[in-house]
Amino acid sequence: IPVVFEAVDPLRRQVRAWRSAGDTIVLVPTMGALHEGHRALVAYAKTNLGRRVVASIFVNPTQFGPTEDFSRYPRDVAADLAALGEAGADAAYVPGAETMYPEGFASRIELDSPSEGLCGAFRPGHFSGVATVVTKLINQAQPDIALFGEKDFQQLQVIRRVTRDLDMPVAIAGMPTLREADGLALSSRNRYLSAAERAVAPRLHAVLASIAKDLAAGGEAGPLVADGLATLEAAGFGPVQYLEVRDAETLSPVARVERPARVLVAAYLGRTRLIDNVAVAPG
Ligand code: PAJ
Repeated sequence: IPVVFEAVDPLRRQVRAWRSAGDTIVLVPTMGALHEGHRALVAYAKTNLGRRVVASIFVNPTQFGPTEDFSRYPRDVAADLAALGEAGADAAYVPGAETMYPEGFASRIELDSPSEGLCGAFRPGHFSGVATVVTKLINQAQPDIALFGEKDFQQLQVIRRVTRDLDMPVAIAGMPTLREADGLALSSRNRYLSAAERAVAPRLHAVLASIAKDLAAGGEAGPLVADGLATLEAAGFGPVQYLEVRDAETLSPVARVERPARVLVAAYLGRTRLIDNVAVAPG
């Protein structure tokens, strides 16, 4: 089990000591309920990015909407700390709500694109909450690098934009999505799926992969997306909130792929909201 910090000052002292010793420090922010995907993120940070890895656990209330699952979001800090230790984290940062949002807290980061559309259209305030909490975590831990999963692709682009716009002295890194053998992206929310839903869930990735392949071969986004939507609905997904092809960097809509692009989806399967995305390389 890694050393656990709950307050900013001791965390910063540790990070400063590591930096004086010549180590690169990587921050991996999470909301806990850690699965294999999170463990892979920590291991990737340690192997590819830096000698010291700090993983944070904080279920951030400001990024959940009033009807979303904040109160029933799974919490098990003891299991999470054990998982972080196994994955090779050097420290865990587990701030309380009073550290993150003390009385009188009144600030919020708002941004335009790339937070508009996609999840931003269905989760008002979500990316403002993410941008604000991630900015705080980075300012608190003062890492050289912060690492995020491509699983939440719009989130990754939002964080790249904010850290660049606000001149934050940190590099942002992304890691490809870890998937089950059948293609389903690992997610803390997969545990809400019934056995029947779990059997259908990999179709989400199959549809994305099929669209990406046809786009790379020169296909047009409009009809491919319409087809994919029909396939998802026939498989039992619904509502499908969005299924779109976007530029991989700016996230603006794309009709034909000439630069790196991304196919992104959010769809309900029963009561569980699943998101996923895949890369499209120009052919
Ligand atoms: P959370 O959902 O806990 O995810 C933490 C990190 O794990 C994110 O960077 C996410 O993209 C990554 N991740 C999740 N599933 C993954 C998978 N299957 N493969 C690879 N990476 C995966 O995202 C958040 O928390 C929060 O919004 C946060 C950034 C911590 C701010 O509160």
